[in-house]
Amino acid sequence: MITKEQVLEALKDVKDPEINRGLVELNMIRDIRIDGERISLTVVLTISGCPLKVKIEEDVVQALKALGAKEVEVRFGAMTDEERAALSAQLRGSHTHNMAPGQTQLLNPILAPDSRTTFIAITSGKGGVGKSTVTVNLAVSLARLGKKVGIIDADIYGFSVPDMMNIEQRPTVIGEVILPVEKFGVKVMSMGFFVEDNSPVIWRGPMLGKMLRNFFSEVHWGEELDYLLLDLPPGTGDMALDVHTMIPQSKEIIVTTPHATAAFVAARAGAMAIRTGHEVLGVVENMAWYEAKDGSKEYVFGRGGGAKLAEQLSCELLAQIPLGQPENHPAEPDYTPSVYKQDSPIGTLYMELAERVEAKCKSSISRSR
Ligand SMILES: Nc1ncnc2c1ncn2[C@@H]1O[C@H](COP(=O)(O)OP(=O)(O)OP(=O)(O)O)[C@@H](O)[C@H]1O
Ligand SMILES: [Mg+2]
Repeated sequence: MITKEQVLEALKDVKDPEINRGLVELNMIRDIRIDGERISLTVVLTISGCPLKVKIEEDVVQALKALGAKEVEVRFGAMTDEERAALSAQLRGSHTHNMAPGQTQLLNPILAPDSRTTFIAITSGKGGVGKSTVTVNLAVSLARLGKKVGIIDADIYGFSVPDMMNIEQRPTVIGEVILPVEKFGVKVMSMGFFVEDNSPVIWRGPMLGKMLRNFFSEVHWGEELDYLLLDLPPGTGDMALDVHTMIPQSKEIIVTTPHATAAFVAARAGAMAIRTGHEVLGVVENMAWYEAKDGSKEYVFGRGGGAKLAEQLSCELLAQIPLGQPENHPAEPDYTPSVYKQDSPIGTLYMELAERVEAKCKSSISRSR
């Protein structure tokens, strides 16, 4: 005869995929009934319309069949407001375990001094050069390499990441804790999730920094991330400075087009990175050329800007990405406007970029130890 204890033990490793903690630990399993080889139970979800229901049900059924149950019935319920508040407190509490003194506002362990997450801010001197495109594709490529990756779309006014990745889902909010949305193995947080109907965001000045701080303190990233990429707004304004104050250990990748003027402007972003003590991982030259059908290259935006910038900043030219749209179609199920497929020509270049970034970050970790 199967016992209740055995059921709980068998479910110990079944996780809520969003929170990434065990259902048993989160007290989400209720009403266990055992009738010979038939087991029924209720899973109380954080919200009733939880999109990950199917996955949870499969995992529970699989774990109980492995225990010897012939028939498993999973019912779903939703937490009460009080239960959600308690869970939110539990999750926030778990953020405070390894905090440095004076870090009271920064609850998230990814900001703690012993955090193993590598932060990479993607910057540029000017707008429209492809920062967001590079952020999204580098993140997806690092995830394709098996890394745990998150993106903070720190462009509070000009957020574009959800749209570029075609994310329609909204984050789950449990009390004061926000769970990021996952797509292509990348966890994403963006102001765009909280703005109705693409209406303009009208916050000014200090609100920007506050919002970014909230993205760190109130977002539950689940498992410790290997990389957290920050898509910054263009230029060298307040936001870039805020990033430095909040994450002094952040590294930077500077995106430029091959045009001499663009590279000149981008040099200012590089100079700022150096002044604020951020390590510049290297330069990505985007829109480097257009490849015609016969394989010949046309340098429509000029030539040499990336290499020149890398030389000025004494860093590496990490990648040159040509012009080209992802080859997918809105009718496909995994359609996105901006993510290149892994084996497409540009997708391959992004995989190489991810490998290079991974190698550079690994070597800088071993140097600092
Ligand atoms: N290699 C490329 N080939 C073709 N189009 C590209 C390429 N890279 C970026 N784009 C397009 O150029 C436009 C600007 O790119 P993106 O939004 O990534 O730039 P950005 O630097 O983040 O801009 P902003 O400063 O406004 O945040 C987008 O429409 C994007 O799809
Ligand atoms: Mg952008």
